[in-house]
Amino acid sequence: MEPFARDALPGRVVLGAGAAEDTVPAGAAQAAREEAVTAEVLASFGGADAPRYREIMESLVRHLHAFAREVRLTETEWQQGIDFLTRAGHITDDRRQEFILLSDVLGLSMLTVAINAPASAGATEATVVGPFFVAGAPEVPLGGDIAGGAKGRPCYVSGAVRGAGGEPVPGARIEVWESDEDGFYDVQYPDGRIGGRGWLRSAPDGGYRFWSVRPAPYPIPDDGPVGDLLTAAGRGPMRPAHLHFKVDAPGYRTLITHIFVAGDPYLDRDAVFGVKESLITDFAEHPPGRGPDGRLSDEPWTSVTFDIVLARLPPVPQAPGI
Ligand code: BEZ
Ligand code: FE
Repeated sequence: MEPFARDALPGRVVLGAGAAEDTVPAGAAQAAREEAVTAEVLASFGGADAPRYREIMESLVRHLHAFAREVRLTETEWQQGIDFLTRAGHITDDRRQEFILLSDVLGLSMLTVAINAPASAGATEATVVGPFFVAGAPEVPLGGDIAGGAKGRPCYVSGAVRGAGGEPVPGARIEVWESDEDGFYDVQYPDGRIGGRGWLRSAPDGGYRFWSVRPAPYPIPDDGPVGDLLTAAGRGPMRPAHLHFKVDAPGYRTLITHIFVAGDPYLDRDAVFGVKESLITDFAEHPPGRGPDGRLSDEPWTSVTFDIVLARLPPVPQAPGI
């Protein structure tokens, strides 16, 4: 019986004519072909001037190619990915940012937060900024009302801003934003309204207080490709009720975070992975009557206390004196 011809052996390919050493396992030849593509692309970034750009792009190429190899990406799947990104681009405009949403539902936003805001002893934990922060929110006085007509049960929010060493932080700029009771931010309405957002400064003792509305759970925008992604994954679009904070004070790391309403049914399945145990806060319900500042409410109202602890920035090295 004739032996198999070498080039007919399953799993082997012939690179050249004749000698046995010219044959290599088919898998190895295929891998070499694929590695050659990756190597060529990596080399194409070798001339980049900025070292950090080069580092990021080379790593991106390595991981992207490894991903394609690992899942054995088909050309149809490649096209589906391109179509997905194209749809994300088409739906993105000044008011809708589908790529940030994509980063959020893939957990990339929270990973970036975790990388850049390493847990520092005692400091309030950070979470995603989300797409509904807008510059130019109105200033309100200490104790003022940021609701601006947003629908919802009145909510009194108070606390203190401190440094991680326990020192009060006076004059901190505290910006807050939230949805109304229907789960919509002001920028999601077409009429240009401003409500459920504002900023104020902490008092000389670091204290702060303002009125707002009780936050409500809401779905992230899910009528685009990111919504399709969630559906395909069997995931929901909901975020648990929360109030966003951005706190700035000289000498401290800017804090971007939320407080979440304890007991919310979506705390364990936030579509964007933003929940942290330390940010879950009790919101107390009160019958109609006077609030802590004497304001009379003829409907039930809510209150919450949230102390904010800021991490110190490392001191800026001084130029040596002359
Ligand atoms: C938000 O909390 O506003 C948000 C965060 C991520 C995606 C969508 C919304
Ligand atoms: Fe939000």
